[in-house]
Amino acid sequence: MPPVAYPHELESYWLNLAQTETRGVALRDTLQRLRPDIKRLADRFTTARPATDTLPDYLRDTRDCAAYAVFFAPQTHARLTHILAELPPFPPTPQPLRVLDLGCGTGAASFALLDHLGPRPVLLHAHDRSRAALRCLHECFSTLRASRWPATMLRTQAATLEETAADGPFDVILLHYVLNELTPALRRSLLARAREWLAPLGRLIICEPLLREAGDYMRELRTFALTDLGLHLLAPCPHEQTCPLAEPCHDVRTWKVPQSLQIVNNLLPRDLRHLAYALLVLSPAPSPAPDGVILARLVGSPTFAKGQTLCPACCSNGAIHRLQLLTRDFDTAGRKNLRHLERGQILRLASLSLLPDSSLSRARPAPAEEE
Ligand SMILES: C[S@@+](CC[C@H](N)C(=O)[O-])C[C@H]1O[C@@H](n2cnc3c(N)ncnc32)[C@H](O)[C@@H]1O
Repeated sequence: MPPVAYPHELESYWLNLAQTETRGVALRDTLQRLRPDIKRLADRFTTARPATDTLPDYLRDTRDCAAYAVFFAPQTHARLTHILAELPPFPPTPQPLRVLDLGCGTGAASFALLDHLGPRPVLLHAHDRSRAALRCLHECFSTLRASRWPATMLRTQAATLEETAADGPFDVILLHYVLNELTPALRRSLLARAREWLAPLGRLIICEPLLREAGDYMRELRTFALTDLGLHLLAPCPHEQTCPLAEPCHDVRTWKVPQSLQIVNNLLPRDLRHLAYALLVLSPAPSPAPDGVILARLVGSPTFAKGQTLCPACCSNGAIHRLQLLTRDFDTAGRKNLRHLERGQILRLASLSLLPDSSLSRARPAPAEEE
C-alpha cells in the first residue's frame, strides 16, 4: 500500500475556513493565530482532561471547529484509511450504503469512509450534539460533494448520544474517538442500541485513542459485544477467544504528515508521525473463514535482522506467537512489505511451526491472493 496521505482538497478546505476565522493573511500567519485554539483542544483531550467521565461541548463555534479540523481531521482520515484497508470489501447492497456516524464532529471519519468507497452511492446520517460542528460538516460536504462524493446524500441531526434515535438499519456505523468521552454505562448502552440499528451484514467500526490512564475499556467492550450482544469480530483480532494480550491492544501506524500539520505542530509538539489507536470492527455476521491460511496480527514492533524479521503476533488460534519471518521465504513484493511492517498489520501465513529450544515460531507466508 502506498504511504497513507491526507487529500489535498480536504486540507485546503479547512485551511481556508481557518483563514477566514482568524483573518490570517497567509498560511503560516493563519496557523500561528489558530495555534492557541488547537493547543487548548489538544490539551483538553490529554493533559488538561477534566477528571469527570465526560467532556463538556468543546466545538462551540466555527473557530473551534476549524481548529479541530485543521489539527485532528488529517489524523482521523489516516487512521480510518488504515483500518478500512485491512477490512474485507463492504458487501454489495441493493440501495445506497446506509452509514451512521455517531459523534461525527466535523465529519473527518465519514469523509475518510466516503473516500474509501469511491463512487459507491451512500446515504450518510451524521449525528452530534454540536450544532457548530454539524454546520461545518454540512458546508464542507456541500463544497466538495461534486468533485469527491457526487453519489452521497447527507442528513445531519443535532442530538446527544444519550437520546439520539436512528432510523436503521445501517450498513455501517462509525464511532470514531467518541466512546472515551462517555461514561462506561453510556458506552455500553450506545453499543447495545447500535447493535439494534445494524443491518444483518452491517459493520460497527469503533476507533479510540490509546489512553492507558482510562483503563482497558476496549477489552471490556469487546467482551460485552461478543458475549452480551452476540456480535462477531471483523477486526482487529483474528479470533474471538479471550484476548491474550497483557496490555491494551492497539495499532501503531505511520502516514505522510501534511505540511500544514507539521507547521502547526512545531510549537506544540506531539508525535504525529505515529498514530497509536485501538479499534474494534463488529458485525452481526461472522467474519468469512480464512480459507486455510493462518492470520497473524502484529502486536508489537518488528525487529529487523540480517535475513529475518522477528515480531510478536496474535494468531487465529487465539495465542501470541513470536514469529520468525525469513526473508528468503518471501517473493520480491513480500520482502518489500517485510521492511515496512507496522504494529497492527495482518499477515497471511501458510504455516507456523515452533522452533526447537526457542520461543520462536517459524512462519511461512501464504501465497499472495489473486486480485
Ligand atoms: C473527538 S470528537 C470526534 C469527532 C469525529 N468522530 C471525528 O473523528 O472527527 C468527539 C465528538 O463526539 C461528540 N460528543 C461527545 N459527547 C457527546 C454526547 N454526549 N452526545 C453527542 N455528541 C457527543 C463531540 O461533540 C465531538 O464532535
